[in-house]
Amino acid sequence: MKFFVDTADVAAIKELNDLGMVDGVTTNPSLILKAGRDIIEVTKEICDMVSGPVSAEVVATEAKAMIAEGMKLAKIAPNIAIKVPLTWDGLTACKAFASEGHMVNVTLCFSPAQAILAAKAGASFISPFIGRLDDIHLEGVNLIEDIRIIYDNYDFKTQILAASIRTVNHIVDCAKIGADVITAPPAVIKSMAQHVLTDKGLEIFLKDWAKTGQKIL
Ligand code: E4P
Repeated sequence: MKFFVDTADVAAIKELNDLGMVDGVTTNPSLILKAGRDIIEVTKEICDMVSGPVSAEVVATEAKAMIAEGMKLAKIAPNIAIKVPLTWDGLTACKAFASEGHMVNVTLCFSPAQAILAAKAGASFISPFIGRLDDIHLEGVNLIEDIRIIYDNYDFKTQILAASIRTVNHIVDCAKIGADVITAPPAVIKSMAQHVLTDKGLEIFLKDWAKTGQKIL
């Protein structure tokens, strides 16, 4: 399972990247706003640091303008995955980018039917949003499961990039289902290391060690 980091915060990406935890990065307009940086500048900085795919999202809503924006974003670096929304225009742009050999991440996917269309349009990645489905009281991980079954039935090459991840359980569920990639905020990835029994166990070991009066160094 590949780990993408869902942020445009360069320092946070660097911390995880130095540990070898980053296979790619996803950004979106809201994350660019949060970072408070120029999209071209920050995306270039991320691409220089991370060798895997870095998703940069278009903001136009009509195919022609999306294609123009995507072509500009693709010039930032060879590892750019052009991110387009799952609309009919987005699928049209996806097909155009894929035909020219660009990686495309089709985002804002909320149904298996949408995921089928993205695969047919040549998407490299489909981004189903788990957390936002949970927010409206649907079971977000079920969408990942459905897409996995469909893509395997037809040997579609589009990778399932589970997005809108809010919890460690989301990541574990995606791993069990066989999502190709998860993209999660740095804090969620870091919290995967936490366990109350690890903290408790360490506390006991350190107390007992102090009683031995020994030192290792
Ligand atoms: C995916 O590429 C999106 O950037 C992201 O996962 C959206 O997550 P959110 O629903 O937490 O905003």
